[in-house]
Amino acid sequence: MAKNQAPVIRLEDYTPPPYLVDRVDLDVRLEPDDARVASRLHARPNPDGGRGEFFLDGEDIELVSLELDGVPLPRSDYRLDDDGLTITSPPDRAFVLDISTRIDPSANTQLMGLYRSNGVYCTQCEAEGFRRITFFPDRPDVLAVYTVRIEARKSDAPILLSNGNLVETGDIPGSDRHFAVWHDPFPKPSYLFALVAGDLGHVADTFTTASGREVALAIYVERGKEDRCDYALQALKRSMRWDEEAFGREYDLDVFNIVAVSDFNMGAMENKGLNVFNDKYVLASPETATDTDYANIEAIIAHEYFHNWTGNRITCRDWFQLCLKEGLTVFRDQEFSSDVRSRPVERIGDVRTLKAHQFVEDAGPLAHPVRPETYREINNFYTATVYEKGAELIRMLKTLLGDGGFRAGMDLYFDRHDGTAATIEDFLACFAEATGRDLTHFKLWYRQAGTPEVTATGRYDAAAKRYELTLEQSCRPTPGQPTKEPLQIPIVFALIGPGGEEIEAPRTASPNVNGNLIELASPRETIVFEDLPGKPVPSLLRGFSAPVKLNANLSGDDLLFVAREDRDAFNRWQAVQTLATGILVDAQAKFATGDRPDLDPRFVDSLRRTAQDGDLDPAFRAQVLTLPSESDIARELGRDVDPDAIHDAGEWLRGLLGTRLGGELRDIYSRLGTNEPYSPDAESAGRRALRNTAMTLLAATGDGDGIALVERHYRNADNMTDRMAGLAALTRRPGAAADDALADFFERYRTDPLVLDKWFTIQATVPTPEALPRIVDLTKNPAFSLANPNRVRALVGAFAAGNATQFNRPDGAGYRFVADIVLAVDRANPQLAARLLSAFRSWRSLEPARRAAAEAELRRIAARDGLSRDTTDIVQRSLE
Ligand code: ARG
Ligand code: ZN
Repeated sequence: MAKNQAPVIRLEDYTPPPYLVDRVDLDVRLEPDDARVASRLHARPNPDGGRGEFFLDGEDIELVSLELDGVPLPRSDYRLDDDGLTITSPPDRAFVLDISTRIDPSANTQLMGLYRSNGVYCTQCEAEGFRRITFFPDRPDVLAVYTVRIEARKSDAPILLSNGNLVETGDIPGSDRHFAVWHDPFPKPSYLFALVAGDLGHVADTFTTASGREVALAIYVERGKEDRCDYALQALKRSMRWDEEAFGREYDLDVFNIVAVSDFNMGAMENKGLNVFNDKYVLASPETATDTDYANIEAIIAHEYFHNWTGNRITCRDWFQLCLKEGLTVFRDQEFSSDVRSRPVERIGDVRTLKAHQFVEDAGPLAHPVRPETYREINNFYTATVYEKGAELIRMLKTLLGDGGFRAGMDLYFDRHDGTAATIEDFLACFAEATGRDLTHFKLWYRQAGTPEVTATGRYDAAAKRYELTLEQSCRPTPGQPTKEPLQIPIVFALIGPGGEEIEAPRTASPNVNGNLIELASPRETIVFEDLPGKPVPSLLRGFSAPVKLNANLSGDDLLFVAREDRDAFNRWQAVQTLATGILVDAQAKFATGDRPDLDPRFVDSLRRTAQDGDLDPAFRAQVLTLPSESDIARELGRDVDPDAIHDAGEWLRGLLGTRLGGELRDIYSRLGTNEPYSPDAESAGRRALRNTAMTLLAATGDGDGIALVERHYRNADNMTDRMAGLAALTRRPGAAADDALADFFERYRTDPLVLDKWFTIQATVPTPEALPRIVDLTKNPAFSLANPNRVRALVGAFAAGNATQFNRPDGAGYRFVADIVLAVDRANPQLAARLLSAFRSWRSLEPARRAAAEAELRRIAARDGLSRDTTDIVQRSLE
């Protein structure tokens, strides 16, 4: 066993907790480096659990005193070790435990448990942080009602917040201290506990629920940032309304608070009634946030809010069930964004994200099922697979059951499991019962890792007017799963006739076709369609109806036809992507051998038509004009990847498109310019996206006109979206223009941490050899800090994940740099280190020289003494 490798935890070993805790009364007295936590637990034996010892998790905390039913517990009646406290023979009846502990919030650099960020006390308890505050059975199937008293110096922490409703406040006579008492009537697991205290400003509003209850809303932020909260606050109100309308879910407390902090390991956290956010996903103003930032804020505010029902009212029985709340809640936030923005554009963006992260994860050593069956460190399972693929499974369920069946299943789930900790089995049973469908086969999606590949072959018999569509599925092995079973794959489809018309309900005897849905369940299936008016072109997997890799075997002509005629916007976009992928895969092979590729003019014409089509949503046109990314092409190749060749191919194609479409792009650029003040709404954002895409293609030509246009664009920008687009285009080529713009940007925004992060990211992603020495230099900049996760991700994370040619430098220097940072961060913040390290997950698909260089760095990390269990887990699995 490797050093510091944690034991394997298995789903099959689950046993119910032997003791339950019904009530928790916490009394927390805060000092920056000495916080005292007095915890009173009302516990009792679990009627459904085994008897025996009572184990309470505890980590990095000091036990000050321990009493059972008011009597100090003799030393012989408990054991204390590195991971907790064991009461060896607890009473066989209800009892009260009084536990007091001491912690040092200022020394907590892991950002798990109670810590201080910029002078603000805050907590993060998911997944296993509550045990760093007090001894507790820190598992999600122990649900308790919490009452929390917080006491602090008024000067240090005028604001005192916890979950639930505020029930009492007061001063401590004869001191500068005060207190607040919060009560949360809804039983919850410990991971949803939160406490925040500090000198914070806030903005407030109210929301009236469907049944007429008034809820007080507030967002707390660092003083001086209050004017950047309005968008998040409005997004919260939109989310609350939407959940009532789309899922019939009302908010349940009198208060809903959000706090933004600047040191946070993740995006945000759904603590009951007190969401804590990375400030990056709250703060926005036109001068500081891009359209993408605004969209992310809206989606994450919604996501955390939606957890109130999917996660909080119904939580997870154990951490293997994480997708029960995360996959479902991502699905809900995607649906919300689709409803308040553009559905096809949202879908294209979500699928791009899925492929860029989840498909890549699934193809490498870190692949795991949506519901994993083993883990060593749960923090390493907050992954694209659990979240994004988890959301796709919910979407497929909805496709298979129809809107009505899906809603009936959800209603039953909320009804039946409210107030409990549930499993995937519980969830699926609701849908099976509500619709009468057997979901046994569908459930395999939760157990089986890997991205299925579906191949379609069509044959038209003109004489018989018959079209035969053969679908085959397969899936490559993933770690621990050498052989794969066929899945139930919903393929939404249409047959398109020669004139572009959809053939209505084509006649077939196949039992697996239902309207516009094919349910592929076997390894190979042939569907025969009869009485066709002519040779059809199939439009398959509309709206990306299943998370699979589809090879539709369409000819170039057919793809051009789909790109032009398909009524399904997603598939029109997909057809262009498929064409572009083919061109880029071909071109990179030519660049790898020093050949010159050439370009089919019909592809350019197809893009020209989309670019000029004023009937199409500008945001959609921008998506069509955005070529597959370097990582898309690397994934398509799958082996012996040469990132330089891929990069050269992309530069070539973008440059050529910039030239050939120059007139149209300039036209778009000037038409879409506006003197209107900035508004973050989706339509305005779509126009900016199209205009900036046009600008980026014009800049890619490298000619003087293009560069001059970008320089003007940067200088004249009156919002961060345009300014960043200009800066990104300018800095792709190092030189005086790039340096001037970077210096200007730094001067403008040097006092604004979130904008400064963008300045670091832009430099981290410059695709030329100057980048790495510059990045190393930036780590010495006084503005850089390894203690701030946003800053580390902005520079090092962006480099590793977003700069394929330089991270994968043939000399291995990119790998060495990231490995050094991982080691430097690991002791203080293991979660951050493990996250950065996962950038190595595709190392085996590289060409041999880079593969060896990456492996050497992984082995160097693995050999390090005292590595955290988070990083140990990732490095071991990466090398297995
Ligand atoms: N539940 C949070 C969310 O999705 C994320 C918590 C992440 N926790 C972790 N240990 N990585 O909204
Ligand atoms: Zn979540």
